[in-house]
Amino acid sequence: MIDAKTKVLGLLAHPIGHSLSPLLQNTLATVCGENVAYLPFEVKNPEELGAAICGAHALGIAGFNVTVPYKEAVIPHLCGLSEEARLIGAVNTLVRTEEGYVGHNTDIAGMATMLARRNLRMEGAHILLLGAGGAARSAAVLAATGGAAELVILNRNTARAEALAKAVRDINPFLTVRTAALEHWRELPGNDYLCIQCTSVGMWPNTEETIVEDPRFFEKLSAAADIVYTPEETKFLRLARAAGKPVAGGLAMLISQGAHAFSLWTGKRCTAEQEEELLTLAKG
Ligand code: ATR
Repeated sequence: MIDAKTKVLGLLAHPIGHSLSPLLQNTLATVCGENVAYLPFEVKNPEELGAAICGAHALGIAGFNVTVPYKEAVIPHLCGLSEEARLIGAVNTLVRTEEGYVGHNTDIAGMATMLARRNLRMEGAHILLLGAGGAARSAAVLAATGGAAELVILNRNTARAEALAKAVRDINPFLTVRTAALEHWRELPGNDYLCIQCTSVGMWPNTEETIVEDPRFFEKLSAAADIVYTPEETKFLRLARAAGKPVAGGLAMLISQGAHAFSLWTGKRCTAEQEEELLTLAKG
């Protein structure tokens, strides 16, 4: 029930499209008993982003999620950045302070939680990253800060893979980082890679596409995760599962990211069981 004490939160995006965040955050508020209303705010004109943030602060809006196309564009309008947001160079959550909004990035925490809940350990793991875009950067920073033994980045555009590798080496000079063109996966020496699929291949409506199809690729893996969450189980994950590998889907990660954002705003951390409930709801 909305009353004078309701904490207002929202999503900044354009387009807002079919974002799951309002459903997810309002359900989290109900589950955790928080007096919160989470609304979609579509900023159609990028030139009005600063005015939108200023106005929101003046109105006392407690926080936002930020998504495409504003994850980087919002940074000049903030009064500070968390360490994760600084390392990734993009924010997905704003938390209000008296001075302005502080930018956070819950992608790393969301990914770490999703992997841990499926017993997929980053510590000591040989990480095989597919992709070198924005989503891959979060996974690469997690590998750099989460104790991975090795990081291999495969991307169609090798210059982009090398640029990401350089950024990772700057964060953790002790981590072994290698790059290669995607089609060179056959030359990978190991057979126990924790593979994190971070390209957009396989995303709805192109659900029959997959970044790799050859069963010999999946033999090299110990487990596979996919950041794509539409569909909930991508063709890539279906192939990994068919090869007998444990899999982790992007929807669970999205929910964990959202739960981390919710805890930044409210101090309430939902349990693993509550996150599983949300996952079931989101699948429906
Ligand atoms: P995001 O922020 O979602 O990561 P992005 O920065 O555009 O989006 O990155 C998309 C990733 O998917 C990149 O790694 C891209 O590869 P390139 O850097 O070579 O462009 C990858 N990708 C997208 N479509 C692809 C395709 N058809 N085949 C191979 N890789 C693809």
